Amino acid sequence: MSPNKKEERDGVAKPWGGRFSGKTDPTVERFSASVHFDKALARYDIRGSIAHARMLAATGLVPAEDADTLVAGLRNIEQEIEAGSFPFDPALEDIHMNIEARLRTQVGAVAGRLHTGRSRNDQVATDTALFLRDTCLAAELALLELRQVLVERSRDHVDTVLPGYTHLQRAQPVRLAHHWLAYVEMLTRDAERFGDLRRRVRRSPLGAGAIAGSTLPLDRNHTAEALGFEAPTRNSMDTVASRDLVIEFLSAAAICMVNLSRISEELVLWSSTEFGFIELADAYSTGSSLMPQKKNPDVPEIVRGKSGRAVGNLVSLLTTMKGLPFTYNRDMQEDKEPLFDSAATLRDCIEVLTGTFATLDVDVDCMAQAAQDPMLLATDLAELLVREGVPFREAHEVVGKMVGRCAQDGVALDAFSAEQMAEFHPAFGASSGELLDLERSFARRDLVGGTARDTVSEALEATARDLAEEAQALEAQRAEEDAGDGS
Ligand code: ARG
Repeated sequence: MSPNKKEERDGVAKPWGGRFSGKTDPTVERFSASVHFDKALARYDIRGSIAHARMLAATGLVPAEDADTLVAGLRNIEQEIEAGSFPFDPALEDIHMNIEARLRTQVGAVAGRLHTGRSRNDQVATDTALFLRDTCLAAELALLELRQVLVERSRDHVDTVLPGYTHLQRAQPVRLAHHWLAYVEMLTRDAERFGDLRRRVRRSPLGAGAIAGSTLPLDRNHTAEALGFEAPTRNSMDTVASRDLVIEFLSAAAICMVNLSRISEELVLWSSTEFGFIELADAYSTGSSLMPQKKNPDVPEIVRGKSGRAVGNLVSLLTTMKGLPFTYNRDMQEDKEPLFDSAATLRDCIEVLTGTFATLDVDVDCMAQAAQDPMLLATDLAELLVREGVPFREAHEVVGKMVGRCAQDGVALDAFSAEQMAEFHPAFGASSGELLDLERSFARRDLVGGTARDTVSEALEATARDLAEEAQALEAQRAEEDAGDGS
């Protein structure tokens, strides 16, 4: 040994360490262990192992009674984990080795048959695929509930009018139902992204081995079917090398969190004294430790804050994967904390926003008051001139001058007499004043996707019907997944 070389410390014995004569340095054990977070995969790992054990029996690679012993032991371990009595050991590195080692203490040497024709590389890919399927479905169901609450609450607010904003400046009047249905549209696309991903996670990694499959006559179709996949993956190298499905989840979660953050920002604004449009329920707001009068919108603020970590998790894994040669590299273990964090963050944020919307109070009068300013109908005036044959750019200029005069004289846009209006443009007829009526303005906006009363009501009903259909489909898929879980 060279004088500069550090003496190997008294380390930790290696599990499955036949090749080694030395032990693992304690710092390395701590550094490389992942069981403290990848234990979140336990139920998927056990489900994958049960399917694998049954397949090994079906192909004759393991005697049937041994497979039964393995399955019974794995079920036992599942209960231990659920009960919180499982002895997680960081020396056993990850969840896969923890479960296998525990199986050995429970059923003895037979446990050594479970890992036949399997590597932790295809095992972790399988666990992750099952986790993704489950988590996407949970996100779809949670987003469904949030949208159902928004639709139900919108029913009472078809006639609640408030200013719509661009640049955070009052732009044109809208109905509150229309505003909330905008959230629903956005959240529907979020749910669809999770649905798309779930359908893309349709091939089973199990049987890809470490990189090049196996010399043993495994039946990959058998495990694929048992685990609810359409078919086995087509290429063993891609199977163990790729994490794009995880990245896709992180991307869908980041997009959804950014959308939830924008909704939250409006809740914060609208509950301020300056807006006064809504009041959050006591159950969904908090007080100040110093200022007795405060009622703070902490829930939407925290949702807004948490969108940052969802974006960070996406960037983190993209960066981890960027330079990796094919196939598996241990760097890829870094996929899990972002994945679990984004999944939990998303779940919690959707849940609290659902409760926030279900319980908040709307100040209908305050919204109506804010929408009263006739200035918000300036576009309507310009469009009246267009109807009279005036080119839009000219009409815009004319109404712009009227608005300028209002600002100069400190009067409202509806204060001009018919004669004064005719001075601005002869095409203004005698009835122009009525044009600045809010209800008439809404009634004219009956294009598809517009703010007319009937248009909004129809959109609301169509959305409610779509959600009911979606609920049926998702519940059926949930039942199917749960049935598979008990196999
Ligand atoms: N904990 C590992 C991971 O998450 C499992 C796969 C380990 N494979 C290996 N060859 N060390 O990536």
